[in-house]
Amino acid sequence: MTNAIETENEADTAIEVPQVYKHHIFACYTQRPPAHPRGSCGAAGGPPLWDRLGKKIESEGLSQDIGFTPAGCLGFCQAGPMMVIYPEGVWYHPTSPDDIDEIVDRHLKQGKLVERLAIVPRLR
Ligand code: FES
Repeated sequence: MTNAIETENEADTAIEVPQVYKHHIFACYTQRPPAHPRGSCGAAGGPPLWDRLGKKIESEGLSQDIGFTPAGCLGFCQAGPMMVIYPEGVWYHPTSPDDIDEIVDRHLKQGKLVERLAIVPRLR
């Protein structure tokens, strides 16, 4: 399935784009050395959690509705591991496999915020 986007200037040349997901997750895989002053999601244990997340999305049959994109640095390195779910713009800081399971079960399947794992970035 595709969505068509028409521009104001070129209504007769619609652009076909892939169907967007109900939720799209970006998870930070950046790895810096453990003593690096910025820290990193890789050094904080993110990659095994993201691997679990990707497998759980598949095993739960959610792949049609949920996009999962391994990402580089998302800008909140010292708070890692960090992931963000759009279109909600909710940032999560999971630290265990159980946290991942809870995000899948409550946020992705039930549409409910997992408050204890949510991070609210401050605007400058
Ligand atoms: S290293 Fe993950 S947010 Fe920067």
